[in-house]
Amino acid sequence: MRISYAPMEGITIYCYRNAHSRLFPEGIDRYYTPFLSVYKQHAIKKRDMREIAPENNALVEGRLIPQIMTNKADEIIWALSEMHERGFEEVNLNMGCPVGTVVSKHKGSGMLEEPAALDELFAQVFESEEIKHTALSVKTRIGLKDPKEYLEIFSVLNKYPFCNVIVHPRVRTQMYQGEPDMEIFKWAYENSKNPISYNGNIFTKDDYDRIVSEFPDLKEVMIGRGLVANPGLAREIVTGQAMGQDELRSFIETMEKEYKVEIPAEESIMHKMKEIWFYVGGNFKTTDGSEIEPYIHKIRVSKNPSEYRNAVRNLYRSCGV
Ligand SMILES: Cc1cc2nc3c(=O)[nH]c(=O)nc-3n(C[C@H](O)[C@H](O)[C@H](O)COP(=O)(O)O)c2cc1C
Repeated sequence: MRISYAPMEGITIYCYRNAHSRLFPEGIDRYYTPFLSVYKQHAIKKRDMREIAPENNALVEGRLIPQIMTNKADEIIWALSEMHERGFEEVNLNMGCPVGTVVSKHKGSGMLEEPAALDELFAQVFESEEIKHTALSVKTRIGLKDPKEYLEIFSVLNKYPFCNVIVHPRVRTQMYQGEPDMEIFKWAYENSKNPISYNGNIFTKDDYDRIVSEFPDLKEVMIGRGLVANPGLAREIVTGQAMGQDELRSFIETMEKEYKVEIPAEESIMHKMKEIWFYVGGNFKTTDGSEIEPYIHKIRVSKNPSEYRNAVRNLYRSCGV
């Protein structure tokens, strides 16, 4: 079963992917870029261009899928053509982002509000010449407010030949809270006319094994926060070799160096690393069996890079790594 690294805006940018694929080369079949916004004038930001530039993605060549955010057929068609020229065979459309500023523009999960408009949009896309050379996949939630919305959404998706329908079985209002709705996912799995993939709350090898045994014909299992917390999770799934704390430390140090390529200001790196510590911190264990939380707290409240570095050093020392 294919394992993919979910798009995580602000985290899994190319610097992160390079560190990850270098230190944990086994297990990830594909990495999705965080969403690239497509603009009216058929363009994406310079920063987003760097996300997909071949020189920044040599280590993940052939495994990178650009994800786009737009709700306009002509912009999707433009992206299919643009990504094709850049050597990509697939483009993924974000229909899941729950953030208010995105939803209010009817993008991300905001696209799920009007299935009839979605139908019109995909009718145009699938009539285009561009869809003949570049496949389109979607990453979707099951609705905005009510899980029952999935029925209409899926009847639209089933009308068109997507190469992959990745389902995060939560509604928008849940954000990333609460349990994924496995009953609805089961319905989607059994009724999808397209290849279907699962995403949501896979934090351990057991979580992965459970999903795969229940849904053996999935195209792909996509993992986000579970991989940020435990970057060795995919390797553990495929080889059985769990990540050690020393490996996690090396990864954090490599990641920090890689981020510097894109983000020169030390202060900004510190903020990014604090966000990452929120996820990875719990994978460290102190040698004396005391709580790790106070050490993580010190990292998260550090006010400048020097305080940050001290707090990180203290955590490593307490864990004997
Ligand atoms: C910080 C953060 C950034 C995210 N950025 C994106 C994104 O750019 N595109 C996207 O489709 N989903 C994004 N997501 C959603 C994840 O890809 C994934 O669907 C979600 O975290 C649920 O999967 P998980 O339980 O394995 O983490 C983001 C989630 C988080 C927490």
